[in-house]
Amino acid sequence: MANKNLIKCDATTLSKDISGKTYIVTGANSGVGYETTKQLVKQGAHVVMACRNVEKGETVVKSFSDLKGSYEVIKCDLASLESVRTFVTLFIEKHNRLDGLACNAGMVNMNNKPQYTKDGFEITMAASFFGHFLMTELLLDVLKKSAPSRMVILSSVVHAGNPKNRYQVHLDDLLWKKRKYNNFAAYGEAKVASVQYAMELAERVKKDKITTYSVHPGWARSNFGGGGNVVMKVLMAILKPIFAGLNFSDSSWESAQASLHCLLSEESTKHSGKYFSQHSVLYQDKECKKGGFPMTSPNPHANDMEAAKKLVKVSRELVGLE
Ligand SMILES: NC(=O)c1ccc[n+]([C@@H]2O[C@H](COP(=O)([O-])OP(=O)(O)OC[C@H]3O[C@@H](n4cnc5c(N)ncnc54)[C@H](OP(=O)(O)O)[C@@H]3O)[C@@H](O)[C@H]2O)c1
Repeated sequence: MANKNLIKCDATTLSKDISGKTYIVTGANSGVGYETTKQLVKQGAHVVMACRNVEKGETVVKSFSDLKGSYEVIKCDLASLESVRTFVTLFIEKHNRLDGLACNAGMVNMNNKPQYTKDGFEITMAASFFGHFLMTELLLDVLKKSAPSRMVILSSVVHAGNPKNRYQVHLDDLLWKKRKYNNFAAYGEAKVASVQYAMELAERVKKDKITTYSVHPGWARSNFGGGGNVVMKVLMAILKPIFAGLNFSDSSWESAQASLHCLLSEESTKHSGKYFSQHSVLYQDKECKKGGFPMTSPNPHANDMEAAKKLVKVSRELVGLE
């Protein structure tokens, strides 16, 4: 049953011919990324699917065989800077244009103990933010060459926190070495960083005719959060159909609407750097629950340009760009 609160991407946008255009979608094998990829291929694009598990990517592309466009799977583990660099090198060797980059992949560490990547980053921040940050910065030249081009990064309603406790990026402890670890706070911070990055980048690349967006996709009935223990898995299996019945959650196709709107619509180009949110009962601020394409984040830290610029400076150093 369609959710009456859903904000949809309009039919004209979802039927325009995008043959000849090239997109990258990270986490393209599952959930929101899969639906985003499928729609882009359906409309004629070539999509490079950046998947950490190539086999999973190759399995899902079987459902694309009758579609107008084309696709390929290239390995990319966003939690590894080396893997991101290798992915970008392979992409640039094969392609001379990039019309849209969808920084879609994301995860939350389901254990309340920090896990560190081989680069020394906390895993949620690494996979959800630092990997995408490095990928985007390395692809800026090709995005500029292909302009007008677009970049969208997935945030989450979680980034908003609540009026008493807004998540913010702790630049003095991005690696969670000084604070008591909280896995959901780590996710919240990574998603604040994503909103800030889209905002900062929009200003930096305005002259180059690249537009950027951050997105809350909705409460997707995807594979998200599947890495928990048995109790969590059983709980989610029970709750998913209940939330769907109550119209709280959305299918992955419904949750791809905001990304598709940002990547394809004419309207979104007027709002570069902004936050686009699907409806969500999970906003603690009542006025935000209906979402908006775009809307203002209720979290002042997410809208803080000075903090965003500092984040970019520190991130460039941490990922080895400075
Ligand atoms: N589901 C929701 O309700 C919800 C709400 C707000 C925001 N979001 C955001 O929406 C985005 C898409 O999530 P989803 O709901 O579609 O979840 P999903 O079905 O779990 O898909 C997540 C994708 O990210 C990939 N991924 C995770 N870690 C990765 C890494 N280190 N390197 C490369 N790829 C990695 C996964 O690959 P594997 O298949 O190999 O694990 C998968 O393809 C995420 O950024 C998430 O934070 C989701």
